[in-house]
Amino acid sequence: MNGKRMDKPCIAARKSAKMELAAGTYYWCSCGLSRNQPFCDGSHQGTKFVPLPVKLTERQLVSFCLCKYSAKGHLCDGSHKSLPPPLNEANSHPA
Ligand code: FES
Repeated sequence: MNGKRMDKPCIAARKSAKMELAAGTYYWCSCGLSRNQPFCDGSHQGTKFVPLPVKLTERQLVSFCLCKYSAKGHLCDGSHKSLPPPLNEANSHPA
């Protein structure tokens, strides 16, 4: 097996990404590994994570979660403010 061992998502950033987007379907990165946050770039391959489709029916301002621990999925709920400080680099975005 050559999969990436990840039980939890990586924290891409401890903040949200506010973006105004046109109607359409976007794929939110749930693993935290994408280099194109908040969107999936395929880096999840080999993990148990998959991108979350976000369908917008009209132009909209979206506050995307970047810490990947929001209880609201792709939407920031402020969880990044209460995450413990990193004890190691296991769940931090690789440099
Ligand atoms: S790169 Fe993270 S879900 Fe695809």
